[in-house]
Amino acid sequence: MKLWGGRFRKEENRLMEDFNSSLHVDKRMYFEDISGSIAHVNMLTQCGILTKEEGSKILEGLKAILRDIENASLRIEGNYEDIHSFVESNLTQRVGDTGKKLHTARSRNDQVAVDIRLYAKRKAQEVVSVIEELQDSLQNKANENPVIMPGYTHLQRAQVVTMKHHLMAYYQMLERDKKRILNALDILNESPLGCGALAGTTHAIDREMTARELGFAKPVDNFIDGVSDRDYLLELMSGFSIIMMHVSRLSEELILWSSQEFKFIEIDDAYATGSSIMPQKKNPDAAELIRGKTGRVYGSLVSLLTTMKGLPLSYNKDMQEDKEAFFNALDTTLSCLQIMSKMITSMKVKSENMETSVKKGFLNATELADYLVKKGIAFRDAHSIVGAVVIFCEDRDKGIEDLSLEELKTFDSAIEEDIYEYIDYRNILNKGTKVALL
Ligand code: ARG
Repeated sequence: MKLWGGRFRKEENRLMEDFNSSLHVDKRMYFEDISGSIAHVNMLTQCGILTKEEGSKILEGLKAILRDIENASLRIEGNYEDIHSFVESNLTQRVGDTGKKLHTARSRNDQVAVDIRLYAKRKAQEVVSVIEELQDSLQNKANENPVIMPGYTHLQRAQVVTMKHHLMAYYQMLERDKKRILNALDILNESPLGCGALAGTTHAIDREMTARELGFAKPVDNFIDGVSDRDYLLELMSGFSIIMMHVSRLSEELILWSSQEFKFIEIDDAYATGSSIMPQKKNPDAAELIRGKTGRVYGSLVSLLTTMKGLPLSYNKDMQEDKEAFFNALDTTLSCLQIMSKMITSMKVKSENMETSVKKGFLNATELADYLVKKGIAFRDAHSIVGAVVIFCEDRDKGIEDLSLEELKTFDSAIEEDIYEYIDYRNILNKGTKVALL
């Protein structure tokens, strides 16, 4: 039975029915759909649009549907157009003709808009807590490993840093990610319920009341905007895309670090896989999948941006495509954050290899220049002197700290015995702003 069958002379084409149906996608919003309807019925009763008896009969029916879905005695399936049609048909089957009054002063346009806002609110809060879990994993791993390691620019060894500071860089990225999601949650916190199809209703409904009951700060100001707006999904997905960009960069580093070339970490067996032919292989699949799935999340964002860009106001069926894109981006982001968190917690840090790598690549060259500056030499001159020292060392396969004082003095007579203490990799971090790396 169609919600809108009255003005049609012909049955809907079978292919069209399948093409039009979104039940398989929007069924996951059953809780929000029923909650929205409960708030709507409470309000209709309060405003005298439904009698108390009608109101409680419908409420009972809605609560029973929710209970049956949750205890799995009612499966969301069958030949229904969407979750809204499913719930309404089921209600009428249960409570009879009174059920047909549920949709008074409401359209599926404001109904779906409120459902998806409620769903987005609930799930975005889940994203925030999973972000916090990953932040905890990073912080714990950082504190457990007070080890020095090479810091890179251009993927070339640059200066000494600590594993802690490196991991905490990701913590900071996630802190901003969290703020972006919370900000989107703040902006979306207005209820579109009561906008009707696009033009309100002749019934004297109370939008403040439904907004309050559903936990929104207020009803939206404009009906047409209320049913047309999907900005909040785009904002959340753009937040998810940035999160994915961050965890993808982290994945890339884990992949590099776990290679034989780096050997900085070992990924736990639980998050790796082997090869069907090469018995020795242990591949960092979890990290690779996170890096790969980033493309899917960007794709979902671009897909909905593109869907929305040409739509005239107000509701258009194109917008039904919003959910698949949003759910895909959401599910992917949640699972990637969870896997990353477990991978970080379980990975082994090979401190000795990190320390050894610090000693190759002149990671104390900048500090030698700093030393010369302290002896009164201009930084630009110091830079060039150290350049010559590096060439000298390279030719002899030595580190700066391996040169004798005599050798060092040939580059500048200001260099004295205290140079060794100054450019020692561990001591470097005790000076100036570098203490923040510890
Ligand atoms: N399944 C639809 C969607 O997700 C619900 C709204 C339908 N509204 C309409 N006027 N056909 O967008």
